[in-house]
Amino acid sequence: MTLRTLDSLGSLEGKRVIVRCDLNVPLRDGVITDDGRVRASLPTLNALINAGARVIVCSHLGRPDGAPDPQYSLEPVAQRLSELLGKPVAFARDTVGESAHDAVTSLEDGGVVVIENLRFNAGETAKDDATRQAFAAQLAELGDVLVSDGFGVVHRKQASVYDLAELLPSAAGLLIAAELDVLDRLTEKPERPYAVVLGGSKVSDKLGVISHLLPRVDRILVGGGMLFTFLKAQGHAVASSLLEEDQLDTVRGYLAEAEKRGVEIVLPTDVVVAASFSADAAHEIAAADAIEETAFGASGIGLDIGPETAARFAEVIRTSKTVFWNGPMGVFEFPAFAAGTKTVAQALTEVDGLSVVGGGDSAAAVRQLGFSDDQFGHISTGGGASLEFLEGKKLPGLEVLGWA
Ligand code: 3PG
Repeated sequence: MTLRTLDSLGSLEGKRVIVRCDLNVPLRDGVITDDGRVRASLPTLNALINAGARVIVCSHLGRPDGAPDPQYSLEPVAQRLSELLGKPVAFARDTVGESAHDAVTSLEDGGVVVIENLRFNAGETAKDDATRQAFAAQLAELGDVLVSDGFGVVHRKQASVYDLAELLPSAAGLLIAAELDVLDRLTEKPERPYAVVLGGSKVSDKLGVISHLLPRVDRILVGGGMLFTFLKAQGHAVASSLLEEDQLDTVRGYLAEAEKRGVEIVLPTDVVVAASFSADAAHEIAAADAIEETAFGASGIGLDIGPETAARFAEVIRTSKTVFWNGPMGVFEFPAFAAGTKTVAQALTEVDGLSVVGGGDSAAAVRQLGFSDDQFGHISTGGGASLEFLEGKKLPGLEVLGWA
């Protein structure tokens, strides 16, 4: 089965179109620090506006506890959306209550409203099917059709992502279609050499993707907090760095399988070790097999890959034809520990082939480090979603749109 796309919905003029976006953007003191997901939603929203639809935008933001919580309000996002669309955007102070209904009733053709955070309602994320479906039915009253375009959330079986798509005529928006286009290129006959760069804090988050990709890629580069579990699995002491003891055997299994399959697992040969986890911590570069031999001894914490490793990673990335990257190489939020992530990002911009930055933290990292979206083949809006896609998992929010 193939994905149902916008044209399958017929004329949308005058219709109330609910658009499930993923506008889950990082906020600091109420200010959006990376509006990538808002910008990524614009092609679909503009297409609907131009088609004369009455556009009802919904999304989650953060993980509130199923009840209104002002720090997770979508109001700043609605304001940013209005600036980017260059037109007024109404904001409803609830999701399925009086404010939402009034705002939808007042919509004119081509008008836009953002309704309040879906997760202010316990039904959105409920595990119980009936509770979720009941909330989806309330949402369905607001619209005639659903356009599902929140790629970042398609791996969640949630009311607005899954159940609502069964209640209303539904189709994928342009963002989901574009994301799948790229992810398909990573899974169907990728140009070789194919390298996957993995970082972020936990190996346990990446287990599925490592075991699924081992038979499919040529090179796996390991950085971020998870590198220490790999180094420890090789018998090196890692001082007080992040370590997942319970994953050591699994990691040893990966290293053995990679060797058997001829897949190159590129591990750091040096790391930046700090006295503590803080932006201004004293730090030193240590060889990967001598992490406890810095001035900080057994209390040192590895916070970035070292310069030799970064240069080696960059070389491997630049000489690959397909590269997928998920997870920062170090604590890039602290400038002293951002160099590894920056070098990897720079190398991705120099790939002569397809380079894909996989969502979440990595997308925020490249923008925060001053790169622009057009320097990469693609920046995915979905961290967890793109990883689960590459793990070969069935994603509920895609299956319900006909994707198989
Ligand atoms: C994300 O940030 O990965 C998506 O918006 C999904 O958010 P969630 O992990 O809270 O479901």
